[in-house]
Amino acid sequence: MGAVNSVKVVPGSVRGTVEVPGDKSISHRVGMIGALSKDGIEVTNFSPGADCSSTLECVKALGCDVVRSGDSVKVSRGKGLSDPSAPLDAGNSGTTARLMCGLLAGVPGTFSVMSGDESLQGRPMSRVVDPLRILGAKIDGRDGGKRLPLAIRGTRLTGGQYVLPVASAQVKSALLLAGLSAQGSVTVVEPLPTRDHTEIMLEHLGVPVRKDGGSITVYPFDDLPGGSWRVPGDFSSAAFWAVAAAISPGSEVSLIGVGLNPTRSGLLEVLKSMGLDCSVMSPRTQGGEMVADLVVRTSVLSSVTVGESQVPSMVDELPVLAVTATQASGTTEIRGASELRVKECDRIAAVAEGLRAMGAQIVEHDDGWTIPGGQALHSAVVDSHGDHRIAMAMAVAALVADGPVEIKGSDCVAISYPDFFSHLNSLSEGR
Ligand code: S3P
Repeated sequence: MGAVNSVKVVPGSVRGTVEVPGDKSISHRVGMIGALSKDGIEVTNFSPGADCSSTLECVKALGCDVVRSGDSVKVSRGKGLSDPSAPLDAGNSGTTARLMCGLLAGVPGTFSVMSGDESLQGRPMSRVVDPLRILGAKIDGRDGGKRLPLAIRGTRLTGGQYVLPVASAQVKSALLLAGLSAQGSVTVVEPLPTRDHTEIMLEHLGVPVRKDGGSITVYPFDDLPGGSWRVPGDFSSAAFWAVAAAISPGSEVSLIGVGLNPTRSGLLEVLKSMGLDCSVMSPRTQGGEMVADLVVRTSVLSSVTVGESQVPSMVDELPVLAVTATQASGTTEIRGASELRVKECDRIAAVAEGLRAMGAQIVEHDDGWTIPGGQALHSAVVDSHGDHRIAMAMAVAALVADGPVEIKGSDCVAISYPDFFSHLNSLSEGR
């Protein structure tokens, strides 16, 4: 997405209650796993973000039934996965592109072409194409299959075991989806635990998944059972309000129905270790996922050190953790996060550029940042680089600046959180 519009965020506290949108990762999986079920998966609180709409458009183009009304979505197999009449468009969504590869590679007789926007066309695809090829997938594409567009000719895949070189839930999930239609079991071995929404959803539907240390195995399974539940609120969206409340004086925000899957909520643990004033209430489960309400208040924070082993459980929250670090006492070190270079934009560079524009000192490393705390942030113009999480992280930083901060290309928040700025307005009105 280009920098087509901008928003000015004025400093101040945040006060009030927010129900963040449905989880983006889980909503993608509702689309993909529902596509393998005759009875279908029906959920409420489906993510309103453009990324998950891309997934629904793809499965619809493949012949599945998709019924969407407000935040309710039902996806079922319909006439079954069949040739789409036009190239599939994953838009800005890496999860759509990579998981769809796993879904389509194992459906014999289908031929599909997958592409996406300019940002997605620059992102690495060999991480998913290479292991699928080992299982027998017929995938070709730009640079020999390293980049979109990819052409996928569905074929009966063999089973097998694959050791992931990079901790990636997208690659793991693509292989697990492929395994459901393979000839034998598929085992994925992870170097570090990554978000396990695919495994949880399959188990919740009654599909066998074997977990043994870092290895996860699925077995061929025809016609998945159906189910219905409410998608938890997206922790990655809630993270912006948790940090906003923690760093801006006089704040208190209640966050209702937030997903707290431990493979996702690493930021909460890190913030707590920094001194976050937070209550976790009414724990419950939805669709097999942990959910709770959070109340976060202005906090006295100290610095933290984050290393490679912690990165997967907070990979999307590192930009807003970097913002937090500027307001903590002491110097924060965030390393082992080179994956941020290949997200919707180069997030290591974009965060450093944005915070520097606001007058902060920040040292950029290949794999993270060193960030001195206790810094004053100033009124500035910053660029989202078309990346939703950069736009929202900069909006949170703006709350503690000494004047308005203009965020260029702010419309990209629609990727995961279309109502972000209207929620920010209502929390600001609560001051
Ligand atoms: C996701 C996995 C992560 C994350 C992305 C969503 C998923 O990507 O950054 O926003 O839903 O599986 P990687 O698999 O590249 O780490």
